Amino acid sequence: MRSKIVAGNWKMNKNRTETEALLAELSAKLPDTNAEVMVAPPYVNLGEAVRYLDDSIIAVIAQNMHFAESGAYTGEISADMLLDIGVDTAIIGHSERRAYFGETDAILAKKVAFALEKNIRTMFCFGEELEDRKSGNHFNVVADQLKNALFSLDASAWKNIVLAYEPVWAIGTGETASPEQAQEMHAFIRKTITDRYDANVAGNVSILYGGSVKPGNANEIFSKPDVDGGLIGGASLVADDFIAIIKAI
Ligand code: 13P
Repeated sequence: MRSKIVAGNWKMNKNRTETEALLAELSAKLPDTNAEVMVAPPYVNLGEAVRYLDDSIIAVIAQNMHFAESGAYTGEISADMLLDIGVDTAIIGHSERRAYFGETDAILAKKVAFALEKNIRTMFCFGEELEDRKSGNHFNVVADQLKNALFSLDASAWKNIVLAYEPVWAIGTGETASPEQAQEMHAFIRKTITDRYDANVAGNVSILYGGSVKPGNANEIFSKPDVDGGLIGGASLVADDFIAIIKAI
C-alpha cells in the first residue's frame, strides 16, 4: 500500500553513544504523524537501535544487505541476521554503494530478489548522475536502472518495495532537485512501472525523493503528488532538522 515515509540514512555516522543520544532526542520530539518514520544507523548499532526503539513508531532499517544466504563473504551481513535482530527493511542500491563498492545493476537485482524472498522490505535507490541530466539522458538512465534491477520481479513482489529516487548530483551537495524536477521524474517512474506492470502496481508503490532534503525545502518537495516522502542523509543526523522534515510530510 502506498504510504508516506520519511527515512533517515545515517550512512557511516554516529557511534553508539551518539546513536542513543540522537534516538532519545528524536523519540522525545517526534510529532504525531501518519507517515512511516525510519532510521538507518550503521550495522554495528542496529541491534542497539532496535532495542532502544522497542516501543516507538520509529522503525530501524538497514543500509545494505547481502544476496547470499550465508557463507564466505567477509564483511557482509545476511538477511537472516537482520531479521534475527528485528530489522525487516533494507536500503538496497544506494548510489554510494554503486559508486564506491562496485554494486552493479546485476548485483542489485540479486540483492532485491533475495531480500523479497526473505520477506525483507526493500527500499531501492536509483538516480542519474550529473552528466546524464546535462545530456538529457536522465530518463533513459532511470528507466534502465528500474528495468535491470526490478522488472523481472512478479507484480506481487512490489507490495514489499519502496522506491527512492536520488539524483546523484543532489546527494550531499546542498543542491536539490527542484520540486518540479522531482515531480517530473516521479511521474515518469510511475508511468514506466505502469507500462511494465499496471496502474495498480504503479499507484501503490511509495516513491521517495532523496538528495539534500532540508527543513527549508521539504514542504515544497513533499507537496508534489507523486512524491511520497523522503530519504534523508545529512539532515537526518540533526534531530531538530529530521523532526522538521517529518512535520513537513
Ligand atoms: P543528503 O540528504 O545528505 O543529500 O543525502 C541523501 C541520501 O543519500 C540519502 O540516502
